[in-house]
Amino acid sequence: MRALDIIEKKRDGFELSKEEIDFFIKGFTDGSIENYQASALTMAIYFRGMTDLESTYLTEAILNSGDQLDLSGISGIKVDKHSTGGVGDKTSLVVGPLVASLGIKFAKMSGRGLGHTGGTLDKLEAIEGYNISLSEEAFIKQVNEIGIALVGQTADLAPADKRLYALRDVTGTVESIPLIASSIMSKKLASGADAICLDVKVGSGAFMKNVADATKLATLMVSIGKNCGRDMTAILTNMDEPLGRAVGNSLEVIEAINTLNGRGPKDFTELCLEVAAHLVVAGKKAKTITSAKKLLNQQIKNGEGLKTLARLIAAQGGNADYIYNPDLFPKAKYVVDVKATASGFVNHIDALAIGHSAMLLGAGRSKLDDVIDHSVGIVLNKKVNDKVSKGDTLATIYANKEDVSNEASIIQNAYTYGNTKVASELILKIIK
Ligand code: URA
Repeated sequence: MRALDIIEKKRDGFELSKEEIDFFIKGFTDGSIENYQASALTMAIYFRGMTDLESTYLTEAILNSGDQLDLSGISGIKVDKHSTGGVGDKTSLVVGPLVASLGIKFAKMSGRGLGHTGGTLDKLEAIEGYNISLSEEAFIKQVNEIGIALVGQTADLAPADKRLYALRDVTGTVESIPLIASSIMSKKLASGADAICLDVKVGSGAFMKNVADATKLATLMVSIGKNCGRDMTAILTNMDEPLGRAVGNSLEVIEAINTLNGRGPKDFTELCLEVAAHLVVAGKKAKTITSAKKLLNQQIKNGEGLKTLARLIAAQGGNADYIYNPDLFPKAKYVVDVKATASGFVNHIDALAIGHSAMLLGAGRSKLDDVIDHSVGIVLNKKVNDKVSKGDTLATIYANKEDVSNEASIIQNAYTYGNTKVASELILKIIK
């Protein structure tokens, strides 16, 4: 077998076999296939696509390039969630504790943020002392004891994906549905959960700009997961505005705490309940989504969800007092209101622009080694379909620098107004 033949076969639109895909990914991983050949293959895949079966083989080949977590030491059904990335997305901080409080094992490895999307690990590190590095043994022990662990990647999961993604990033081949699906699913499958709920974002602030493409991606990921024996659900959700109101690490953790206290923003609460409900059904603690949501609402009312978050923080070395007293989070030095420059109903808020503005404040990274300022960020006062008069406060900036005029004007320009409200649904589709 030769890499060149495989590249030409895909270039000419033919279906690759499992052996060919395995050969290519193995060679790419051990260095016998060159980066330029892998770049050519990804470009051929970008234009020619892949069948579901080819995508499954590619996922498995990437999965087999590294370690896989063995969660068999954890009793019961293990669940996990994944979001394709959105601005203000702190869902894991609410979903994890809620489902764990119902006795379902939530064993999650998360990532850091780059660019406009913040990572769950960065948010957790806003809490003094929180340790994201657990050994595999400690990770399993903690999930058995308190039902939840939220850590950084320990093992070398899907190393071929890391290298392939770096090539895709500089060769214009990120936006390919089979490549995105196999990249995400190889890492999710390597993390070892039995049931996975995928939150596939749709809209201007997401990879997938329309429902048709997001449906294709979600359907493919569900199919790959099922082919690999996992219980899968994908939820398509709207990213035509940031999720919730808070963007920035401490601010987002505080919003997650408020949500577990029953005082979260409407859209964010709705999403958390939907994702968690699918995991509760997959975890066999409820038969229907409606009864699962009832259980979850109880766990909010009786404080068990919040207690589980506090237990998680304490178990990983963090100061759990932050959960009951959010005043402990370090404060930004400057608090600046951003005023509306026009009037009307908010029709759209460019989530990417809000994420970019938060990054410029120091809440995110533009380079991998940038240091994050956990105290800064943005809280949106006006959301889609709110009525705004010129001069109203659109958002509040929390900053550690005095001049935030650039960030403020980015926020002002992110808002689009109309004379009427727009149709705006958060949950667009569920694919099982
Ligand atoms: N996220 C991933 O992990 N991989 C992709 O290819 C795109 C988004």
